[in-house]
Amino acid sequence: MIQKMNKLKVFEAFAGYGGASYGLKRSKIEFEVIGFSEIDKFTSEFYQKNHPKTFNYGDITKIDPKKIPDFDLFTGGFPCQPFSQVGMGLGEDDTRGTLFHDIIRICKIKKPKHILLENVKGLKTVRHGRTLKTIISKLTKLGYDVVTEVMNSKNYGIPQNRERVWIYAYQGILPLTFNLSPPTRKLKIFFKDLLDKEPDKLLFKNQKQIKRLKELYNLDFKVKEPSCADLYNKNIRSDGISITILEPHHNKMRVAHPSINNKLQVRKYSINEHFRFMGFKNEKIDLCNQSYQQLCKMLANGWDVNLTSLIFQNIFKQIQNNQYENISKAS
Ligand SMILES: C[S@@+](CC[C@H](N)C(=O)[O-])C[C@H]1O[C@@H](n2cnc3c(N)ncnc32)[C@H](O)[C@@H]1O
Repeated sequence: MIQKMNKLKVFEAFAGYGGASYGLKRSKIEFEVIGFSEIDKFTSEFYQKNHPKTFNYGDITKIDPKKIPDFDLFTGGFPCQPFSQVGMGLGEDDTRGTLFHDIIRICKIKKPKHILLENVKGLKTVRHGRTLKTIISKLTKLGYDVVTEVMNSKNYGIPQNRERVWIYAYQGILPLTFNLSPPTRKLKIFFKDLLDKEPDKLLFKNQKQIKRLKELYNLDFKVKEPSCADLYNKNIRSDGISITILEPHHNKMRVAHPSINNKLQVRKYSINEHFRFMGFKNEKIDLCNQSYQQLCKMLANGWDVNLTSLIFQNIFKQIQNNQYENISKAS
């Protein structure tokens, strides 16, 4: 049980649709977003409409930290593309030129008590391990105790195979027993449970398109129940789990339905299905009349709201329940 605490002041960087805000709301933590940072025009419009009375500080590289009010929690799923350029012997400078540099620049001045970051699992691989080490070392130098953990949405209640690295930094010393990952749980809902009851006919491929998909991916799309067609791995999944929700331009995720009158049924995921696979439940969402492409792109880059809420609950439960301030890791 999370005890009542002062309203948490949050700065939501790289805000996207606001995965951190939705997660905090779900976990019933009292909070207030004192500002967010987002550069994409449509995503900013979406955020602002669905999180009224918030101020967009825009491009993080242009933010003067002295002009932002103080806050307790900095959140950010910083873009991952720059990391494809690392591993060139830059050592400590691995993160220079990336947007992580701006996280450090802002947190150095504002010193929030908590920082929660997220990125693709690749950040923890041997190839990019040095980047993660640099991130940890820079945060440590600012006085943060840092923990990192790879978590997969499918282990926390959402039938999506989505592996992400989470980085939590605490200004102070965390208890020795601190665990960033919430306890895992058995899946109770599966792929077919998150599908629309009556999917829009426009989502379905015609027989000519399906024939082409069959040839391209060497798949027959014959299924007994609605299943995830993983075109990336040329596989129809039988585990009741979706592949990672990807931006629409990848064209790699489809829903295969049982045939009707011997005609194969294959379709795209709907917008609502994207929301459900990203952990949304009953949230009232204004889609701002945005296109399928735009909304699904934004959703593919977001935080799983279900997992985010569990992580926040888990962090604040442990921090509040422990008299950790005087316990040194060395003792
Ligand atoms: C991986 S997504 C984060 C999604 C977010 N965590 C959510 O729950 O939806 C990264 C976001 O950072 C935004 N972004 C990229 N460069 C930025 C910059 N210089 N300043 C602010 N936001 C930026 C992108 O438009 C994108 O929405």
